[in-house]
Amino acid sequence: MAAVTVVFRNTGAQLTPWHAVALTRGPAPPCDFWDPRLSCTDLSTRVADFVRTETLQHIALFDKCKSFTRAREIQAAGLYPYFKPITQSEDTVVVIEGEPRVMMGSNNYLGLTHHPDVLAAAKAALERYGSGCTGSRFLNGTLDLHERLEIELAEFFDKESCLVFSTGYQANLGVISGLVGRGDLVFLDKLDHASIVDGAKMSHGETVRFNHGDLAGLERKLQRVPANTGMMIIVDGVYSMEGDIADLPALIKVAQKYCAALAVDDAHSVGVLGPKGDGTAAHFGVTDEVDLIVGTFSKSLASIGGFAAGSESVIHYLKHHARPMIFTAALPPANTAGVLAALRVLQQEPERRERLWVNTRRLQDGLRGLGFEIGPTETPIIPVLIGPLEKTFLFWRQLFDAGVFTNPVVPPAVPPSQCRLRTSLMATHTAEQIDQALEAFARLGKELGVI
Ligand SMILES: Cc1ncc(COP(=O)(O)O)c(C=O)c1O
Repeated sequence: MAAVTVVFRNTGAQLTPWHAVALTRGPAPPCDFWDPRLSCTDLSTRVADFVRTETLQHIALFDKCKSFTRAREIQAAGLYPYFKPITQSEDTVVVIEGEPRVMMGSNNYLGLTHHPDVLAAAKAALERYGSGCTGSRFLNGTLDLHERLEIELAEFFDKESCLVFSTGYQANLGVISGLVGRGDLVFLDKLDHASIVDGAKMSHGETVRFNHGDLAGLERKLQRVPANTGMMIIVDGVYSMEGDIADLPALIKVAQKYCAALAVDDAHSVGVLGPKGDGTAAHFGVTDEVDLIVGTFSKSLASIGGFAAGSESVIHYLKHHARPMIFTAALPPANTAGVLAALRVLQQEPERRERLWVNTRRLQDGLRGLGFEIGPTETPIIPVLIGPLEKTFLFWRQLFDAGVFTNPVVPPAVPPSQCRLRTSLMATHTAEQIDQALEAFARLGKELGVI
Protein backbone atom coordinates (compact mmCIF):
# COMPACT_ATOMS: atom_id res chain seq x y z
CA MET A 1 0.00 0.00 0.00
CA ALA A 2 1.49 3.38 -0.98
CA ALA A 3 1.99 5.87 1.82
CA VAL A 4 -0.33 8.78 1.19
CA THR A 5 -1.75 11.44 3.41
CA VAL A 6 -5.29 12.24 2.53
CA VAL A 7 -6.45 15.72 3.47
CA PHE A 8 -10.11 16.41 3.04
CA ARG A 9 -11.21 19.51 1.25
CA ASN A 10 -14.10 20.53 3.42
CA THR A 11 -12.69 19.95 6.92
CA GLY A 12 -8.93 19.63 6.55
CA ALA A 13 -9.16 16.33 8.46
CA GLN A 14 -6.51 13.72 7.68
CA LEU A 15 -7.03 10.06 6.92
CA THR A 16 -5.60 8.27 9.97
CA PRO A 17 -4.04 4.76 9.90
CA TRP A 18 -7.26 3.55 11.54
CA HIS A 19 -9.27 4.87 8.59
CA ALA A 20 -6.84 3.21 6.21
CA VAL A 21 -7.49 -0.14 7.90
CA ALA A 22 -11.22 0.51 7.71
CA LEU A 23 -10.87 1.26 4.02
CA THR A 24 -9.04 -1.97 3.27
CA ARG A 25 -11.96 -3.84 4.88
CA GLY A 26 -14.50 -2.06 2.69
CA PRO A 27 -15.39 -2.87 -0.89
CA ALA A 28 -12.35 -3.27 -3.18
CA PRO A 29 -11.18 0.18 -4.27
CA PRO A 30 -10.57 0.93 -7.94
CA CYS A 31 -7.11 -0.26 -9.01
CA ASP A 32 -5.66 3.27 -9.18
CA PHE A 33 -7.01 4.13 -5.75
CA TRP A 34 -3.66 4.11 -3.95
CA ASP A 35 -1.72 5.66 -6.82
CA PRO A 36 0.45 8.34 -5.13
CA ARG A 37 0.25 10.45 -8.28
CA LEU A 38 -3.41 11.14 -7.57
CA SER A 39 -4.12 14.49 -5.95
CA CYS A 40 -5.61 14.61 -2.50
CA THR A 41 -8.72 16.15 -3.98
CA ASP A 42 -9.21 13.16 -6.27
CA LEU A 43 -8.65 10.82 -3.39
CA SER A 44 -11.04 12.60 -1.08
CA THR A 45 -13.79 12.25 -3.64
CA ARG A 46 -13.12 8.55 -4.01
CA VAL A 47 -12.57 7.83 -0.33
CA ALA A 48 -15.89 9.44 0.47
CA ASP A 49 -17.50 6.69 -1.61
CA PHE A 50 -16.19 4.06 0.79
CA VAL A 51 -16.21 5.60 4.25
CA ARG A 52 -19.18 6.98 6.13
CA THR A 53 -18.94 10.75 6.41
CA GLU A 54 -19.26 10.38 10.17
CA THR A 55 -15.86 8.62 10.17
CA LEU A 56 -14.18 11.23 8.03
CA GLN A 57 -15.59 14.50 9.24
CA HIS A 58 -15.99 15.99 12.63
CA ILE A 59 -19.73 16.34 13.06
CA ALA A 60 -20.26 18.20 16.30
CA LEU A 61 -23.86 17.04 16.54
CA PHE A 62 -22.71 13.44 17.04
CA ASP A 63 -20.14 14.14 19.78
CA LYS A 64 -22.68 13.33 22.47
CA CYS A 65 -23.37 9.95 20.84
CA LYS A 66 -19.70 8.97 21.01
CA SER A 67 -19.34 10.05 24.63
CA PHE A 68 -22.61 8.37 25.72
CA THR A 69 -21.24 5.31 27.52
CA ARG A 70 -23.70 4.88 30.39
CA ALA A 71 -25.89 2.30 28.72
CA ARG A 72 -22.89 0.33 27.39
CA GLU A 73 -21.41 0.15 30.90
CA ILE A 74 -24.66 -1.30 32.24
CA GLN A 75 -24.78 -3.71 29.28
CA ALA A 76 -21.20 -4.81 30.02
CA ALA A 77 -22.18 -5.48 33.63
CA GLY A 78 -25.02 -7.73 32.39
CA LEU A 79 -27.63 -5.54 34.09
CA TYR A 80 -29.16 -3.75 31.11
CA PRO A 81 -32.96 -4.08 31.41
CA TYR A 82 -34.14 -2.38 28.20
CA PHE A 83 -35.12 -3.60 24.71
CA LYS A 84 -35.32 -7.24 25.86
CA PRO A 85 -36.76 -9.14 22.90
CA ILE A 86 -39.76 -11.34 23.69
CA THR A 87 -39.71 -14.41 21.49
CA GLN A 88 -43.10 -15.74 22.54
CA SER A 89 -46.03 -14.43 24.54
CA GLU A 90 -48.84 -16.33 26.20
CA ASP A 91 -50.63 -13.55 28.03
CA THR A 92 -49.04 -13.47 31.51
CA VAL A 93 -46.01 -15.56 30.50
CA VAL A 94 -43.41 -14.39 28.00
CA VAL A 95 -40.24 -16.06 26.80
CA ILE A 96 -37.12 -13.87 27.02
CA GLU A 97 -33.56 -15.16 26.65
CA GLY A 98 -35.00 -18.62 26.11
CA GLU A 99 -36.76 -18.81 29.49
CA PRO A 100 -40.38 -18.24 30.51
CA ARG A 101 -40.93 -15.21 32.77
CA VAL A 102 -44.06 -13.98 34.51
CA MET A 103 -44.87 -10.63 32.87
CA MET A 104 -45.32 -8.11 35.67
CA GLY A 105 -44.48 -5.05 33.61
CA SER A 106 -47.25 -4.94 31.05
CA ASN A 107 -50.19 -2.53 30.75
CA ASN A 108 -52.36 -5.32 29.41
CA TYR A 109 -54.57 -4.87 32.48
CA LEU A 110 -57.47 -7.06 31.38
CA GLY A 111 -55.36 -9.67 29.61
CA LEU A 112 -57.15 -9.08 26.30
CA THR A 113 -54.17 -9.31 23.92
CA HIS A 114 -54.83 -13.03 23.51
CA HIS A 115 -58.63 -13.03 23.79
CA PRO A 116 -60.15 -15.16 20.98
CA ASP A 117 -62.67 -12.45 19.98
CA VAL A 118 -59.91 -9.83 19.70
CA LEU A 119 -57.70 -12.11 17.62
CA ALA A 120 -60.57 -13.20 15.37
CA ALA A 121 -61.66 -9.61 14.73
CA ALA A 122 -58.11 -8.54 13.92
CA LYS A 123 -57.62 -11.46 11.52
CA ALA A 124 -60.93 -10.80 9.74
CA ALA A 125 -60.09 -7.10 9.29
CA LEU A 126 -56.68 -7.96 7.92
CA GLU A 127 -58.35 -10.10 5.27
CA ARG A 128 -61.08 -7.58 4.44
CA TYR A 129 -59.10 -4.31 4.42
CA GLY A 130 -55.47 -5.37 4.06
CA SER A 131 -52.47 -4.66 6.23
CA GLY A 132 -52.58 -0.86 6.44
CA CYS A 133 -54.54 2.30 5.64
CA THR A 134 -51.61 3.89 3.77
CA GLY A 135 -52.85 7.38 4.40
CA SER A 136 -54.26 9.90 6.82
CA ARG A 137 -57.69 9.69 8.41
CA PHE A 138 -58.24 13.09 6.79
CA LEU A 139 -57.77 11.80 3.26
CA ASN A 140 -57.79 8.21 2.06
CA GLY A 141 -57.26 6.50 5.45
CA THR A 142 -60.67 6.50 7.18
CA LEU A 143 -62.39 3.11 7.41
CA ASP A 144 -65.95 2.40 8.45
CA LEU A 145 -64.25 0.57 11.33
CA HIS A 146 -62.73 3.82 12.64
CA GLU A 147 -66.16 5.46 12.60
CA ARG A 148 -67.80 2.48 14.30
CA LEU A 149 -65.11 2.56 16.99
CA GLU A 150 -65.61 6.29 17.49
CA ILE A 151 -69.36 5.80 17.94
CA GLU A 152 -68.92 2.98 20.44
CA LEU A 153 -66.22 4.85 22.39
CA ALA A 154 -68.38 7.97 22.61
CA GLU A 155 -71.26 5.84 23.95
CA PHE A 156 -68.98 4.05 26.39
CA PHE A 157 -67.57 7.29 27.84
CA ASP A 158 -70.97 8.99 27.70
CA LYS A 159 -69.68 11.81 25.49
CA GLU A 160 -71.20 13.26 22.32
CA SER A 161 -68.34 12.47 20.03
CA CYS A 162 -64.95 10.82 19.74
CA LEU A 163 -61.87 10.94 17.50
CA VAL A 164 -59.44 8.05 17.03
CA PHE A 165 -55.70 8.74 16.74
CA SER A 166 -52.87 6.38 15.76
CA THR A 167 -51.35 6.36 19.28
CA GLY A 168 -52.26 7.68 22.71
CA TYR A 169 -49.14 9.82 22.52
CA GLN A 170 -50.52 11.52 19.42
CA ALA A 171 -53.95 11.90 21.03
CA ASN A 172 -52.40 14.08 23.74
CA LEU A 173 -50.29 15.97 21.22
CA GLY A 174 -53.33 16.53 19.03
CA VAL A 175 -55.75 17.59 21.76
CA ILE A 176 -53.36 20.04 23.41
CA SER A 177 -51.68 21.50 20.34
CA GLY A 178 -55.02 21.56 18.48
CA LEU A 179 -56.83 23.53 21.16
CA VAL A 180 -54.20 25.57 23.03
CA GLY A 181 -53.20 28.42 20.75
CA ARG A 182 -51.20 31.63 21.03
CA GLY A 183 -52.22 33.58 24.14
CA ASP A 184 -53.80 30.50 25.79
CA LEU A 185 -52.46 28.67 28.86
CA VAL A 186 -52.17 24.96 29.61
CA PHE A 187 -51.78 23.82 33.23
CA LEU A 188 -50.00 20.51 33.85
CA ASP A 189 -49.52 18.45 37.00
CA LYS A 190 -45.76 17.91 37.39
CA LEU A 191 -46.25 14.13 37.17
CA ASP A 192 -48.29 14.26 33.95
CA HIS A 193 -47.20 11.83 31.25
CA ALA A 194 -44.49 12.86 28.77
CA SER A 195 -47.02 12.97 25.94
CA ILE A 196 -48.91 15.72 27.77
CA VAL A 197 -45.70 17.64 28.35
CA ASP A 198 -44.79 17.27 24.68
CA GLY A 199 -48.28 18.29 23.58
CA ALA A 200 -47.94 21.46 25.64
CA LYS A 201 -44.52 22.14 24.08
CA MET A 202 -45.98 21.65 20.63
CA SER A 203 -48.83 24.06 21.26
CA HIS A 204 -48.36 27.78 20.76
CA GLY A 205 -49.67 28.50 24.23
CA GLU A 206 -47.85 28.96 27.52
CA THR A 207 -47.25 25.98 29.82
CA VAL A 208 -47.72 26.32 33.57
CA ARG A 209 -46.81 23.38 35.82
CA PHE A 210 -48.12 22.82 39.35
CA ASN A 211 -46.83 20.41 42.00
CA HIS A 212 -48.33 16.94 41.91
CA GLY A 213 -51.88 17.06 43.30
CA ASP A 214 -51.37 20.58 44.71
CA LEU A 215 -54.68 22.18 43.83
CA ALA A 216 -54.13 25.16 46.11
CA GLY A 217 -50.94 25.83 44.14
CA LEU A 218 -52.87 25.43 40.88
CA GLU A 219 -55.47 27.89 42.08
CA ARG A 220 -52.83 30.50 42.98
CA LYS A 221 -51.50 30.28 39.44
CA LEU A 222 -54.99 30.52 37.93
CA GLN A 223 -55.76 33.62 39.99
CA ARG A 224 -53.01 35.53 38.19
CA VAL A 225 -54.47 34.88 34.72
CA PRO A 226 -56.45 37.75 33.10
CA ALA A 227 -60.17 37.12 32.52
CA ASN A 228 -61.20 35.58 29.21
CA THR A 229 -57.87 33.85 28.63
CA GLY A 230 -58.23 30.40 27.05
CA MET A 231 -57.12 27.80 29.62
CA MET A 232 -56.84 24.02 29.77
CA ILE A 233 -56.01 21.94 32.84
CA ILE A 234 -54.87 18.44 31.89
CA VAL A 235 -54.01 15.63 34.29
CA ASP A 236 -53.47 11.87 34.25
CA GLY A 237 -56.53 10.07 35.64
CA VAL A 238 -54.22 7.43 37.12
CA TYR A 239 -50.55 8.44 37.34
CA SER A 240 -48.50 6.05 35.29
CA MET A 241 -45.53 5.69 37.63
CA GLU A 242 -47.14 6.16 41.05
CA GLY A 243 -50.52 4.51 40.53
CA ASP A 244 -52.45 7.20 42.44
CA ILE A 245 -55.74 8.67 41.19
CA ALA A 246 -56.28 12.35 40.32
CA ASP A 247 -58.79 14.11 42.58
CA LEU A 248 -61.21 14.99 39.79
CA PRO A 249 -64.04 16.37 41.96
CA ALA A 250 -61.63 18.93 43.46
CA LEU A 251 -60.09 19.69 40.06
CA ILE A 252 -63.54 20.29 38.58
CA LYS A 253 -64.31 22.89 41.24
CA VAL A 254 -61.08 24.76 40.45
CA ALA A 255 -61.55 24.47 36.68
CA GLN A 256 -65.14 25.74 36.84
CA LYS A 257 -64.26 28.62 39.14
CA TYR A 258 -61.72 29.95 36.60
CA CYS A 259 -63.55 28.86 33.41
CA ALA A 260 -60.75 26.49 32.37
CA ALA A 261 -61.35 23.39 30.25
CA LEU A 262 -60.55 20.16 32.08
CA ALA A 263 -59.02 17.20 30.20
CA VAL A 264 -58.18 13.82 31.73
CA ASP A 265 -55.76 11.31 30.28
CA ASP A 266 -57.38 7.98 31.11
CA ALA A 267 -54.60 5.79 29.69
CA HIS A 268 -54.35 3.74 32.89
CA SER A 269 -57.97 4.06 34.01
CA VAL A 270 -59.90 2.55 31.11
CA GLY A 271 -60.89 -1.00 32.02
CA VAL A 272 -59.60 -0.41 35.56
CA LEU A 273 -61.73 2.33 37.18
CA GLY A 274 -65.41 3.21 36.86
CA PRO A 275 -68.57 1.08 37.14
CA LYS A 276 -68.11 -0.22 33.56
CA GLY A 277 -64.34 0.24 33.38
CA ASP A 278 -65.20 3.61 31.85
CA GLY A 279 -62.46 5.54 33.58
CA THR A 280 -61.69 8.12 36.23
CA ALA A 281 -64.58 10.53 35.58
CA ALA A 282 -67.08 7.67 35.79
CA HIS A 283 -65.33 6.38 38.93
CA PHE A 284 -66.11 9.71 40.64
CA GLY A 285 -69.50 10.11 38.89
CA VAL A 286 -68.41 13.39 37.27
CA THR A 287 -68.38 12.53 33.56
CA ASP A 288 -70.50 15.54 32.57
CA GLU A 289 -68.08 17.97 34.20
CA VAL A 290 -64.96 16.66 32.49
CA ASP A 291 -64.62 18.35 29.09
CA LEU A 292 -62.30 15.88 27.40
CA ILE A 293 -61.35 12.28 28.05
CA VAL A 294 -58.16 11.26 26.28
CA GLY A 295 -56.85 7.71 26.21
CA THR A 296 -54.90 4.95 24.60
CA PHE A 297 -55.62 1.54 23.12
CA SER A 298 -52.17 0.28 24.15
CA LYS A 299 -53.19 -0.80 27.64
CA SER A 300 -56.54 -2.38 28.60
CA LEU A 301 -57.67 -2.28 24.96
CA ALA A 302 -54.79 -4.54 24.03
CA SER A 303 -53.55 -2.90 20.85
CA ILE A 304 -52.18 0.46 19.79
CA GLY A 305 -53.91 3.78 19.09
CA GLY A 306 -55.58 6.54 21.04
CA PHE A 307 -58.72 8.64 21.28
CA ALA A 308 -60.23 11.86 22.52
CA ALA A 309 -63.88 12.04 23.57
CA GLY A 310 -65.83 15.24 24.23
CA SER A 311 -68.53 17.52 22.88
CA GLU A 312 -69.43 17.36 19.20
CA SER A 313 -68.11 20.84 18.42
CA VAL A 314 -64.74 20.29 20.12
CA ILE A 315 -64.17 16.94 18.43
CA HIS A 316 -65.26 18.37 15.07
CA TYR A 317 -62.73 21.18 15.53
CA LEU A 318 -59.97 18.70 16.44
CA LYS A 319 -60.76 16.65 13.34
CA HIS A 320 -59.74 19.69 11.32
CA HIS A 321 -56.91 21.05 13.49
CA ALA A 322 -55.13 18.17 15.25
CA ARG A 323 -51.92 17.90 13.22
CA PRO A 324 -50.79 14.64 14.93
CA MET A 325 -53.91 13.04 13.48
CA ILE A 326 -54.01 14.84 10.12
CA PHE A 327 -50.35 14.40 9.17
CA THR A 328 -49.91 10.72 9.95
CA ALA A 329 -51.36 7.45 8.70
CA ALA A 330 -54.55 6.08 10.20
CA LEU A 331 -54.74 3.27 12.73
CA PRO A 332 -54.38 -0.01 10.75
CA PRO A 333 -57.48 -2.16 10.13
CA ALA A 334 -56.45 -5.13 12.28
CA ASN A 335 -55.73 -2.87 15.26
CA THR A 336 -58.97 -0.93 14.85
CA ALA A 337 -61.04 -4.11 14.68
CA GLY A 338 -59.11 -5.60 17.61
CA VAL A 339 -59.82 -2.52 19.74
CA LEU A 340 -63.53 -2.64 18.86
CA ALA A 341 -63.65 -6.29 19.90
CA ALA A 342 -61.68 -5.55 23.10
CA LEU A 343 -64.06 -2.70 23.98
CA ARG A 344 -66.99 -5.09 23.66
CA VAL A 345 -65.30 -7.85 25.69
CA LEU A 346 -64.42 -5.29 28.36
CA GLN A 347 -68.14 -4.61 28.78
CA GLN A 348 -69.32 -8.22 28.38
CA GLU A 349 -66.82 -9.69 30.85
CA PRO A 350 -66.83 -7.45 33.96
CA GLU A 351 -65.39 -10.34 35.92
CA ARG A 352 -62.03 -9.49 34.36
CA ARG A 353 -62.00 -6.13 36.13
CA GLU A 354 -63.02 -7.82 39.38
CA ARG A 355 -60.18 -10.32 39.00
CA LEU A 356 -57.74 -7.46 38.31
CA TRP A 357 -58.67 -5.86 41.62
CA VAL A 358 -58.35 -9.15 43.52
CA ASN A 359 -54.85 -9.52 42.06
CA THR A 360 -54.03 -5.89 42.82
CA ARG A 361 -54.94 -6.29 46.47
CA ARG A 362 -52.94 -9.54 46.71
CA LEU A 363 -49.74 -7.95 45.42
CA GLN A 364 -50.19 -4.62 47.24
CA ASP A 365 -50.90 -6.33 50.58
CA GLY A 366 -48.10 -8.85 50.02
CA LEU A 367 -45.47 -6.21 49.27
CA ARG A 368 -46.57 -3.92 52.09
CA GLY A 369 -46.61 -6.93 54.45
CA LEU A 370 -43.02 -7.74 53.50
CA GLY A 371 -42.00 -4.19 54.40
CA PHE A 372 -41.55 -2.73 50.91
CA GLU A 373 -42.31 0.94 50.28
CA ILE A 374 -44.92 1.13 47.50
CA GLY A 375 -46.01 4.76 47.85
CA PRO A 376 -49.54 6.11 47.40
CA THR A 377 -50.70 3.62 44.75
CA GLU A 378 -54.43 2.87 44.64
CA THR A 379 -54.40 0.86 41.43
CA PRO A 380 -52.78 -2.13 39.62
CA ILE A 381 -49.68 0.03 39.05
CA ILE A 382 -47.46 -0.83 42.00
CA PRO A 383 -44.02 0.80 42.15
CA VAL A 384 -41.59 -0.84 44.58
CA LEU A 385 -38.99 1.57 45.98
CA ILE A 386 -35.48 0.11 45.77
CA GLY A 387 -33.22 3.18 46.18
CA PRO A 388 -30.02 3.85 44.23
CA LEU A 389 -29.72 3.11 40.52
CA GLU A 390 -27.14 0.32 40.73
CA LYS A 391 -29.11 -1.58 43.35
CA THR A 392 -32.27 -1.16 41.28
CA PHE A 393 -30.66 -2.68 38.18
CA LEU A 394 -29.21 -5.51 40.28
CA PHE A 395 -32.60 -6.17 41.87
CA TRP A 396 -34.22 -6.06 38.44
CA ARG A 397 -31.74 -8.58 37.01
CA GLN A 398 -32.08 -10.98 39.90
CA LEU A 399 -35.88 -10.83 39.72
CA PHE A 400 -35.59 -11.46 35.99
CA ASP A 401 -33.37 -14.49 36.70
CA ALA A 402 -36.00 -15.66 39.17
CA GLY A 403 -38.53 -15.57 36.31
CA VAL A 404 -40.28 -12.26 37.01
CA PHE A 405 -40.23 -9.37 34.53
CA THR A 406 -40.66 -5.84 35.94
CA ASN A 407 -39.78 -2.33 34.69
CA PRO A 408 -37.06 -0.23 36.33
CA VAL A 409 -37.89 3.45 36.80
CA VAL A 410 -34.72 5.54 37.11
CA PRO A 411 -33.67 9.21 36.69
CA PRO A 412 -34.77 11.49 35.12
CA ALA A 413 -38.20 9.94 35.74
CA VAL A 414 -37.47 9.86 39.51
CA PRO A 415 -34.84 11.44 41.81
CA PRO A 416 -31.52 9.45 41.90
CA SER A 417 -32.14 7.96 45.36
CA GLN A 418 -35.74 7.00 44.56
CA CYS A 419 -35.30 4.41 41.83
CA ARG A 420 -37.98 1.80 41.77
CA LEU A 421 -39.29 -1.30 40.05
CA ARG A 422 -42.69 -0.69 38.54
CA THR A 423 -44.94 -3.72 38.66
CA SER A 424 -48.37 -3.82 37.04
CA LEU A 425 -51.00 -6.47 37.28
CA MET A 426 -53.28 -8.22 34.85
CA ALA A 427 -56.68 -9.81 35.38
CA THR A 428 -55.23 -13.04 34.06
CA HIS A 429 -52.34 -13.37 36.54
CA THR A 430 -52.88 -16.42 38.74
CA ALA A 431 -52.51 -16.34 42.51
CA GLU A 432 -49.50 -18.68 42.07
CA GLN A 433 -47.79 -16.20 39.73
CA ILE A 434 -48.29 -13.35 42.18
CA ASP A 435 -46.97 -15.50 45.01
CA GLN A 436 -43.94 -16.45 42.90
CA ALA A 437 -43.22 -12.74 42.46
CA LEU A 438 -43.73 -12.07 46.17
CA GLU A 439 -41.36 -14.89 47.13
CA ALA A 440 -38.68 -13.53 44.81
CA PHE A 441 -39.19 -9.97 46.12
CA ALA A 442 -38.95 -11.24 49.72
CA ARG A 443 -35.70 -13.18 49.14
CA LEU A 444 -33.99 -10.46 47.10
CA GLY A 445 -35.28 -7.65 49.30
CA LYS A 446 -33.47 -9.25 52.27
CA GLU A 447 -30.32 -10.17 50.30
CA LEU A 448 -29.97 -6.68 48.87
CA GLY A 449 -30.90 -4.89 52.09
CA VAL A 450 -34.08 -3.24 50.81
CA ILE A 451 -36.32 -4.66 53.56
C1 LIG B 1 -50.60 8.37 30.94
C2 LIG B 1 -50.22 8.00 29.54
N1 LIG B 1 -50.67 8.74 28.52
C3 LIG B 1 -50.38 8.46 27.25
C4 LIG B 1 -49.58 7.39 26.93
C5 LIG B 1 -49.24 7.13 25.48
O1 LIG B 1 -49.94 6.04 25.02
P1 LIG B 1 -49.52 5.25 23.70
O2 LIG B 1 -48.71 4.07 24.15
O3 LIG B 1 -50.81 4.83 23.11
O4 LIG B 1 -48.77 6.17 22.82
C6 LIG B 1 -49.10 6.57 27.94
C7 LIG B 1 -48.26 5.41 27.60
O5 LIG B 1 -47.35 5.04 28.27
C8 LIG B 1 -49.41 6.88 29.28
O6 LIG B 1 -48.95 6.14 30.28
